Amino acid sequence: MTETKTATLTIDGNSFELPIHTPTVGPDVIDIGKLYGQSGAFTYDPGFTSTAACDSTITFIDGEKGELLHRGYPIDQLAGQSHYLEVCFLLLYGYLPEANELEKFERLVTNHTMIHEQMHNFFRGFRRDAPPMATMVGVVGAMSAFYHDSTDINDEHQREVASIRLVAKMPTIAAMAYKYSIGQPFVYPRNDLDYASNFLNMCFSVPAEEYQVNPILARAMDRIFTLHADHEQNASTSTVRLASSSGANPFACIAAGIACLWGPAHGGANQACLEMLKEIGTVDRIPEFIARAKDKNDNYRLMGFGHRVYKNFDPRATVMKESADEVLELLGVEDNPLLQVAMELEKQALADPYFAEKKLFPNVDFYSGIILEAMGFPTSMFTPIFAMARTVGWISQWKEQLGDPQLKIGRPRQLYTGETKRDYVDIENR
Ligand code: SDX
Repeated sequence: MTETKTATLTIDGNSFELPIHTPTVGPDVIDIGKLYGQSGAFTYDPGFTSTAACDSTITFIDGEKGELLHRGYPIDQLAGQSHYLEVCFLLLYGYLPEANELEKFERLVTNHTMIHEQMHNFFRGFRRDAPPMATMVGVVGAMSAFYHDSTDINDEHQREVASIRLVAKMPTIAAMAYKYSIGQPFVYPRNDLDYASNFLNMCFSVPAEEYQVNPILARAMDRIFTLHADHEQNASTSTVRLASSSGANPFACIAAGIACLWGPAHGGANQACLEMLKEIGTVDRIPEFIARAKDKNDNYRLMGFGHRVYKNFDPRATVMKESADEVLELLGVEDNPLLQVAMELEKQALADPYFAEKKLFPNVDFYSGIILEAMGFPTSMFTPIFAMARTVGWISQWKEQLGDPQLKIGRPRQLYTGETKRDYVDIENR
């Protein structure tokens, strides 16, 4: 970071010079690290709408242009020309691998897709109707009880082993959570299948008959993984970074990220979006839901719309829509009523001044649910799939943070608006 400029802040007549760091691309940042020490004042930014919490080289988003770069490569090129495990390599190591490096990495991931056999018992402790997200939070956190040889965050080799284990085992855990929820036997990973095909096989094959993975569905699945891989300092990634700043082990940090992603304002939006489309049901009911979303007295929101950063289109939604068309055509459900409602909802919302003024566009969660449902997943599996795909982003950001020699525990302060000091009152005198 270069510091050629400074900002001057004046408080009660006293001026404070604050260094400005200039990024390779994007907004300048004003370094307030010494502000409290110099001025006795905190800054205040609930929701971190104007706060850079770290520096990073992994992902860049330009919300105005609708641009998303992973290590400089545009998401539409990666989604169109690369594949998920190559994107994992890019996020983890910072460059596109040569053929032999990629082959070695893919073999390493493939050879670590099984989980400790004893972990199967964890699933059986849950009720059958447990949401798969609950199972994933529990089982991923429990990985720290099994993989002790990759929990020492100060050992670079152990950090690498934990990274590969998490990327490799998340599909297995997600598929097992699904199988358990529908009362079917677990399906072991197969080393002869690619990452996406292996996941589909673990989810949809049954011992009673041969399951053939449809290559077009596998390609669409792989592309969905790529589109969800990383996204700068979103809420769940920030959760992973904050958890890791205390020195917590990688499995605990990723379990914290899964828990944060679960919320409907974040990764839970894909499930909430599909449930909204089903509730709308037919295009003639769309105006009713748009009116609710616009009503100041109703905190109802259109799921799959809006984004903290994208104030133009979400480039992932554009690619996801293309995938939705491809999958639905393949499955012969291009006249899928949900897709009809989704496209008409998008059209009407974008034509409405409310959404235009507030720059609310479809985000990554708007179309993903339509594809996943068409592929046969229940809505309860939508966010687990998001969590599985985002694990590589969480891990890449976790590794980057641990590599920062300036790393300190994250400890925000507050604007205190509570009671001032007062004495205790015995109960008989209250
Ligand atoms: C993800 O951060 C990331 O990068 C996340 C993510 C990733 O890859 O990690 O991209 C994944 O989480 C995508 C977002 C998925 N969530 C949803 O689709 C849920 C619906 N969207 C909203 O909850 C909302 O848009 C957020 C949470 C996504 C963004 O919220 P912000 O940035 O805090 O915006 P805001 O709540 O301040 O809204 C600004 C205005 C408000 O109106 P006013 O108070 O100014 O009058 O826009 C309105 C909001 O009421 N608004 C909406 C709306 N989203 C915002 N109104 C109706 N429908 C919506 N969806």
